[in-house]
Amino acid sequence: MVQFNLPDNSKLVEGEYYKSKTDSNNIKNFRVYRWSPDDEKNPRVDTYEVDMDNCGPMVLDAVMKIKSDIDPSLTFRRSCREGICGSCAMNIDGTNTLACTKPIKDCKNDVAIYPLPHMPVIKDLVTNLKNLYKQLTSIKPWLHNNGKQSEDNIENLQSKSDRAKLDGLYECILCACCSTSCPSYWWNSDKYLGPAVLLQSYRWLQDSRDEARSERLKELDDTFKVYRCHTIMNCTQTCPKGLNPAKAISGIKTMIAQNRT
Ligand code: SF4
Ligand code: SF4
Ligand code: FES
Repeated sequence: MVQFNLPDNSKLVEGEYYKSKTDSNNIKNFRVYRWSPDDEKNPRVDTYEVDMDNCGPMVLDAVMKIKSDIDPSLTFRRSCREGICGSCAMNIDGTNTLACTKPIKDCKNDVAIYPLPHMPVIKDLVTNLKNLYKQLTSIKPWLHNNGKQSEDNIENLQSKSDRAKLDGLYECILCACCSTSCPSYWWNSDKYLGPAVLLQSYRWLQDSRDEARSERLKELDDTFKVYRCHTIMNCTQTCPKGLNPAKAISGIKTMIAQNRT
């Protein structure tokens, strides 16, 4: 039987253990993935003891505390710290989510923190999302109204019921938690657009003001772009904003079929 082995320097090893300098009895361990492109060392998992009496309630609070008080070399993205920018997406306790809205108290034991899965790692918890942004650009995520400006130069109005069709879609913050939890996207991310980009696409397909619906659907009508979704539902289960990308993808499939006739 053929045996496949990982290169030695790709294997995950046990890293440093950082003991708390306080004598608090309220200590929680955070086990964090570390890897740097600046040396030839293996990726490792460092363990940090964090004093919960002096830490905010969310996982991002602990990660920021580790960086400011224990280990300034820890690298991660974050901005808004309130679930709006999507930049702090990471894999926490086995689930892709936003570190800033994930309560530490929901993690029963040591808190395991890894980068978003199946993405190239730039450093530590920072992944390379270039492919996803390129795919987002490909669906032209803006209003196409043939350059028309309303005569009196006011807003492009919608009825209340048309506006309601965007609920559950416009709230997406493009955190990539869904796409990086999708096995089809793991294996085919060069051709399959994945749930995050497809939900965005559906947002524009559902917009009553958009005049490019038919062209958009023709662009999507391809063996790989949409049809690699096998309704596994990881995307919907993991979305930290409670959205349903799998339903959006199924809506796109229906629209494509209708557009063909
Ligand atoms: S659908 Fe949800 S998980 Fe996916 S990118 Fe949007 S907010 Fe993130
Ligand atoms: S439902 Fe489709 S997009 Fe969502 S995880 Fe499954 S295969 Fe991926
Ligand atoms: S820091 Fe913006 S979503 Fe978490």
